[in-house]
Amino acid sequence: MIVGYIQNSPVFGDKTHNFSQISDLAKGMKADLLVLPELFATGYTFTSKEEAFSMAEDASGLTCGFLSGLSIDTGAVIVAGFIEQEKEKIYNAAIMIYGDKVIGTYRKIHLFNKEKLWFSPGNKPFEVHQVNDMKIGMMICFDWFFPEAARTLVLKGAQLIAHPSNLVMPWCQTAMVTRCLENRVFAVTANRIGREVRGDDHFNFTGGSQVTGFDGTILSAAPTDKTCVKTVDIDIHNADNKLINPFNDLIGDRRKDYYL
Ligand code: ACM
Repeated sequence: MIVGYIQNSPVFGDKTHNFSQISDLAKGMKADLLVLPELFATGYTFTSKEEAFSMAEDASGLTCGFLSGLSIDTGAVIVAGFIEQEKEKIYNAAIMIYGDKVIGTYRKIHLFNKEKLWFSPGNKPFEVHQVNDMKIGMMICFDWFFPEAARTLVLKGAQLIAHPSNLVMPWCQTAMVTRCLENRVFAVTANRIGREVRGDDHFNFTGGSQVTGFDGTILSAAPTDKTCVKTVDIDIHNADNKLINPFNDLIGDRRKDYYL
């Protein structure tokens, strides 16, 4: 399976520009799975709930249409972040698309910082979707800080975690080595680069998108300051075997009676 990420540098609020940057980056590429960053088309640093609301869509909106075209052009299952609106609520969400079919959406469960002011917390369980012989789960950025997120996806059968991100702290890439090692699961963390200064906030996004292997090996690491697209060839079925030696099964050996 060819899996990878697109690391972009969005202009806040300019979906047209941001779509065309992604199209340019992806030109001519083919893959089985491509992950794009969290909120890849809108930018991250909102100054009010109204502003975030004005860029929200449902799973049949403009962003979805763009991602469907990207899937058709690249042949890949696409996972990407967007603002999902349902009635009067908006969510920091990810969508999984293959061709013209929406496979599923995930709404970020662990909101970071002022996201709590704009977005409603995710209200759907972590889910795993089987597409083209891949079992893919989604989590978004700060979810990495909660080991339960990756563990739940793996207990539900995920072989690979698609992880759209807008990272602003320095620890995720290193932590994903542990998340993957302790679960024997692959992960594709797609991050953005650039700086946003809006209202009282300024964020530097750290790039360094990463494909992490089921044994904790870093299979691809993007630069911290450049847009890029990278893919790697993986045998996703390596994630099916949870034995680290003949005696230790990382899922089977859990002592649930002793855990909270
Ligand atoms: C983050 O969750 N975007 C830091």
